[in-house]
Amino acid sequence: MNTRNPATPLSTNPKLLKWVEEIAQLTKPAAIHWVDGSKEEDEALCGQLVAGGTFIKLNEKLWPGCYYAKSDPGDVARVEERTYICSVKKDDAGPTNNWADPVEMKAKLKGLFAGSMAGRTMYVLPYSMGPIGSPISQIGVEITDSAYVVVSMRIMARIGKAVFDQIDKGLFFVPCVHTVGAPLAAGQKDVTWPCNKEKYITHFPETREIWSFGSGYGGNALLGKKCYALRIASTMARDEGWMAEHMLILGVENPKGEKTYVAAAFPSACGKTNFAMLIPPASFKGWKIWTVGDDIAWIKPNKDGRLYAINPEAGFFGVAPGTSMKTNPNAMLSLAKNTIFTNVALTPEGGVWWEGMTDTPPAELIDWKGNKWTPEIAKEAKAAGKDGLSSHPNSRFAAPASQCPTIDPAWENPEGVPISAMIFGGRRATTMPLVFQSFNWTHGVYLGATMGSEMTAAAAGTVGQVRRDPMAMLPFCGYNVSDYFAHWLSMQKKVKFLPAIFHVNWFRKSTDGKFLWPGFGDNTRVLKWIVDRVNGQTSAVETPIGMIPKYEDIDWTGLNFSKEDFEKVMSFDKEAWNTEVVSQEEFFFKLRDRLPKALINERAQLIARL
Ligand code: GTP
Ligand code: SPV
Ligand code: MN
Repeated sequence: MNTRNPATPLSTNPKLLKWVEEIAQLTKPAAIHWVDGSKEEDEALCGQLVAGGTFIKLNEKLWPGCYYAKSDPGDVARVEERTYICSVKKDDAGPTNNWADPVEMKAKLKGLFAGSMAGRTMYVLPYSMGPIGSPISQIGVEITDSAYVVVSMRIMARIGKAVFDQIDKGLFFVPCVHTVGAPLAAGQKDVTWPCNKEKYITHFPETREIWSFGSGYGGNALLGKKCYALRIASTMARDEGWMAEHMLILGVENPKGEKTYVAAAFPSACGKTNFAMLIPPASFKGWKIWTVGDDIAWIKPNKDGRLYAINPEAGFFGVAPGTSMKTNPNAMLSLAKNTIFTNVALTPEGGVWWEGMTDTPPAELIDWKGNKWTPEIAKEAKAAGKDGLSSHPNSRFAAPASQCPTIDPAWENPEGVPISAMIFGGRRATTMPLVFQSFNWTHGVYLGATMGSEMTAAAAGTVGQVRRDPMAMLPFCGYNVSDYFAHWLSMQKKVKFLPAIFHVNWFRKSTDGKFLWPGFGDNTRVLKWIVDRVNGQTSAVETPIGMIPKYEDIDWTGLNFSKEDFEKVMSFDKEAWNTEVVSQEEFFFKLRDRLPKALINERAQLIARL
């Protein structure tokens, strides 16, 4: 039995105590709760969320330790147009970020946050991105009025008393303030998913602060993830000579037991979780893929002249639809217990389901909006022009990384793992071949900088449209993206043995709209070529766009994929590339003020080769 009074501060750090006091004065919560991170506390908070109707406890036999939530239908994804970088100078946010003057934004936020926590408990949630006490970890304290955020962050980061102890030792922390923006008047009954129509996700890179108003969902509210580990950390990384990237990290073990680590940047909902947990095809005897992280990598130059990466997170906040025992068994096993599901569908047995989980959908469900769903109802909805989906396309699971069967033994190693290759890849129906390798680092940076991808449901906006998403960081770079490219280029001076850079596309389609590549586990075949390349064990052919494999260079055992199929998925379409280069130029034109000359030069060389 936990008899602690949660209002008693768990830290003696004067800066922290003063700040908590200030925020409480501003937001006027009914109570303050210092989060100790214990299991009892977690159980009590989950119990409270169940009592209030935010959580449904899933069937303990089928889904042990799991909870289900459905959000407000207007609060289902990151809101990029409401996300701001509030640097002192507008140019330091750059042309790809929304900018607001820090003084003006602070004034606006003070107004919005005034009394915003009325009737609610204000949680003081300490968290560490990276293992607690590791020299490369970073600390934050999130003040939030959402218990859902507290229990989700318990999965996604390392939280609790041990982090307060670090702060008491004098370690720097980033203050993060979050409110759902739904104060309760005396006696007012709460809704199950409080939020506000107005949303502000704001970052102050110079003072290293985060303020988030109005949303309770994902990256808008779990501030350790995109706000800290990417937007604020990317500015720290620029200042300190390391890299904070939207990348998965995996290790490839060959039959001899040798491991090669790879990091890959794909935009949101473009297959990072899937790739991080690959299971090689049965014909790949003795090959094994190990998972280090599925979304974020902090990468630092090491004394041995190489780049080493850590996963700053402790959980996977993965896209549910499309995840199944066929497409990603490791994800299914990771989320089998102790997981929070948001915006998927509920089964009558107290389980969850989503599109693609099984071939045959259950006969009846409650959909993510709380309505009855059957295959017939879905069919009628589709006929009437609606989506008919039981789960929101950006519905997600928050699952502990430690539950992943392929979690790498070194995943919590404070040194990180050495990175031998980096991969960029977007969702492109045309133009981009299955795989190619850059000629060198600068050309690789160019490939990342000009990367394009069709937009997904991970952000509110137009799904399907191709946009430039440099290094998959368009929504996450905390400073001027041209300076970010310069920072990438500068790694050449800091690192003796840089990783080789590749570009992949799992999503190329035929003219009749079918995927030309089977994807998922078969991506191992491409990964093997990449690993063989960096280990000097296979050849490549030079083409105008980069180095490509010959059909014979890829291991096809166990897959019926003909040379003609390969030529289709690798084909070079001159017309499409001409269009591509123009579109890249439009993007570069937007960035012209600070774009590094080396990239303009790369572009000139590409045009000459084409
Ligand atoms: P964030 O968590 O938003 O950063 O996304 P992510 O990059 O981790 O995306 P995730 O792995 O969850 O993939 C999302 C979607 O991509 C799902 O619909 C998958 O079915 C689909 N997907 C993943 N890998 C492949 C692949 O190899 N081929 C095809 N066609 N689809 C894939
Ligand atoms: C993404 O959108 O890239 C995510 C999900 O990983 S969120 O945490 O909501 O940003
Ligand atoms: Mn992501």
